[in-house]
Amino acid sequence: MSHLFDVYPIYDIEPVKAEGSYLWDQHGTKYLDLYGGHAVISVGHCHPYYVDKLTKQLNAISFYSNSVKISIQEELAVKLGELSGYPDYKLFLCNSGAEANENALKLASFHNGRTKVISFTKSFHGRTAGAVAATDNPSIVAPVNYKEHVTFLPFNDAVAAEEGITDEVCAVIVEGIQGVGGINVCTDEFLQTLRRKCDETGAILILDSVQCGYGRTGKFFSHQFSGITPDIMSMAKGMGNGFPIGGILISPKFKASYGLLGTTFGGNHLACAAGVAVLDIMKEENLIANAAEIGDYLFEGIKAIGGYKELRGRGLMIGIEYDFPVKDLRNKLLFEHKMFTGVAGANTIRLLPSLALGKTEADLFLEALKKEVSVAAV
Ligand SMILES: Cc1ncc(COP(=O)(O)O)c(C=O)c1O
Repeated sequence: MSHLFDVYPIYDIEPVKAEGSYLWDQHGTKYLDLYGGHAVISVGHCHPYYVDKLTKQLNAISFYSNSVKISIQEELAVKLGELSGYPDYKLFLCNSGAEANENALKLASFHNGRTKVISFTKSFHGRTAGAVAATDNPSIVAPVNYKEHVTFLPFNDAVAAEEGITDEVCAVIVEGIQGVGGINVCTDEFLQTLRRKCDETGAILILDSVQCGYGRTGKFFSHQFSGITPDIMSMAKGMGNGFPIGGILISPKFKASYGLLGTTFGGNHLACAAGVAVLDIMKEENLIANAAEIGDYLFEGIKAIGGYKELRGRGLMIGIEYDFPVKDLRNKLLFEHKMFTGVAGANTIRLLPSLALGKTEADLFLEALKKEVSVAAV
């Protein structure tokens, strides 16, 4: 009998060791990790530079509250601004993606004094009160998560956005590429319409970049393919390569004041050490370019195998939708080929590997997929 509150359907596998794009269980079985534990492993498991940075930080000081100078926060903000292409944006640090979105929505509402939020069909923004109210999944919204103020518009529908974003709207929150919803990429036209309508109405444009950010798509943020500039970007997942850290990048148009936002753990020394290590490795090893290159390679390989209904995504954020439930395919990949993949809905395989994935690993996946898809077609 488990003593844990049973909310996760789990595989009977326990990874006990990890390195790069591989995991090992307690029996020594090796697995290829093409999912990074929900897009979290960005620079690879147990990267020596990352381990060293965190170890040194742990031995020096691991925590003090946001009432003293913590200069590693500033180092993280500067490096993030530089690598992301937003050097004039300010950073607020928290601990998770939901919290990042929660703070983004609060900041928007403090700024324009409004309450209405526009979100989109199939969106996922997290499980805290405001974030879950803006998430298009009634089964995870509790009655206490007041959502009267949220309107869901059809995703990627520029005409509906044109009509729906009015002078009453506080914020528009959108994922540049929907993750949980099935790897649905925002069109340029859609994002550009959101930007223009927010400018016209005074609404705040929030790009939830928790899953599609941090270099995964071949640019630091996926919206950078569409030539728009959001007011706030939320981040988490790959930001700490497994150490819990989240944050929002905030346009210079917002004015900070003491107490406006706050957190106990956000910006702690260990989280910032993880965040700095991730950015250093991403820069040193050109991981954003690698995500673009290996992503293209995987896209071409998957196209050549065929058998799918639709292939979606960018870089190393890939959804392969089939016209059959993918549960068996995923299980075959895991138990026979020893490869972790994810799903979105019933019919889509979701790949979210480390940005350091190599061609060798991509080939291993393509080989396994080819075998299983041709078996399924027989
Ligand atoms: C786009 C997006 N936003 C927010 C979240 C919530 O992040 P967290 O689980 O760290 O609260 C997720 C998590 O899957 C996500 O994919």
